[in-house]
Amino acid sequence: MYNLLKGKKGIIFGALDSNSIAWKTAERVHEEGGTFVLTNAPVAMRMGQINELAEKTGSQIIPADATSEEDLDNLIAEATKILGGKLDFVLHSIGMSVNVRKGKAYTDENYDFTTKGWDVSALSFHKVMKSLYKADAMNEGGSIVALTYMAAQRTFPDYNDMADNKAYLESVARSFGYFFGKEKGVRVNTISQSPTPTTAGQGVKGFDGFISYAEKMSPLGNASALDCADYTVSLFSDLTRKVTMQNLFHDGGFSNTGVSQEVVDMFTK
Ligand SMILES: NC(=O)c1ccc[n+]([C@@H]2O[C@H](COP(=O)([O-])OP(=O)(O)OC[C@H]3O[C@@H](n4cnc5c(N)ncnc54)[C@H](O)[C@@H]3O)[C@@H](O)[C@H]2O)c1
Repeated sequence: MYNLLKGKKGIIFGALDSNSIAWKTAERVHEEGGTFVLTNAPVAMRMGQINELAEKTGSQIIPADATSEEDLDNLIAEATKILGGKLDFVLHSIGMSVNVRKGKAYTDENYDFTTKGWDVSALSFHKVMKSLYKADAMNEGGSIVALTYMAAQRTFPDYNDMADNKAYLESVARSFGYFFGKEKGVRVNTISQSPTPTTAGQGVKGFDGFISYAEKMSPLGNASALDCADYTVSLFSDLTRKVTMQNLFHDGGFSNTGVSQEVVDMFTK
C-alpha cells in the first residue's frame, strides 16, 4: 500500500454487504491510511453487516437516509465532530429503482415509484453536496465521488428508469462541481463502473447475461468492485487534484468498443 490517504478524513455512503462497491472502497481507503464515518439508510443497517466493516476499519456508523436533508445535516455535523475537523473525501454509492424492484416496465412506469427512485439515486447526490457546502464541511483540495453507469449515455433496456437517474446524477456532478471548485477548491466526479455483482447490480433483469456480454466486449475485461475501490482511492488522493466535473469511465474499455472479436465469433459460428 502507498499511504495515499494518510491523514485524510471522509464519509462513505452505501456499504450494505461485502459485495458492495462502498464496502471494498472503505477497506481500501482504510489500507491507504484514511479515516471515515460509514453511513447507510436506517433500514439497510438492519439488513446489512455494516458493523463488521466498522470494526475492521475502526470506523463509527451514523445512519442517514440520503433523501432526508435533516439526516444529512446531522450526519455531517456528527462526522466532522467524530473525525476532528473538515472532510477530505465523500463517496456517494447509492442506487435504487422502485420500478425495477416492483417489475414495472420502462414503458409503464409508476411515477410515484419513479420519483422515489430518482430522489434516492440522483437527487440525494445534490442533497449530500448541498449539506456539505452549507456547512463548509470540505477541506480545500477535497474530493467528492459518486458512482454511475453507462446507461446514462447509451440504452440498456432493462436498466429501466435508473438510466434517467444516472443521467441526472452525472449532470449534478458537473453543475455542483463548478460551484464546489470555484468556491471551495473541491473536486466532484462520477465514476462510470462496469456491471458488478452486488445487491443493486443483481436487481437488474438479465444481469448474468449482461455482465458476461460486458466481459466479452471489454478489452481489459470488466472492472471489479475492488478495481473500482482502487480507482476511487486515486480520485480521493492528491494525485488527481485537477480532475473535476468529469464522468470517468472505469469499464475495461467497454464504452469505446464497437464490437470485440469474441462477440463477432459468437455470430459467425
Ligand atoms: N453493481 C453494478 O453493476 C453497478 C454498476 C455501475 C454503477 N453502480 C452504482 O454503484 C453504486 C453502489 O451500488 P452497489 O452496486 O455497490 O450495490 P449495493 O446494493 O451494495 O449498494 C447500494 C446502496 O444504496 C443504499 N441506499 C439505498 N437507499 C438509500 C437511502 N435512501 N439512503 C442511503 N443509502 C441508500 C443501499 O442501502 C446500499 O447500501 C450505486 O450508485 C450503483 O448504481 C453499480
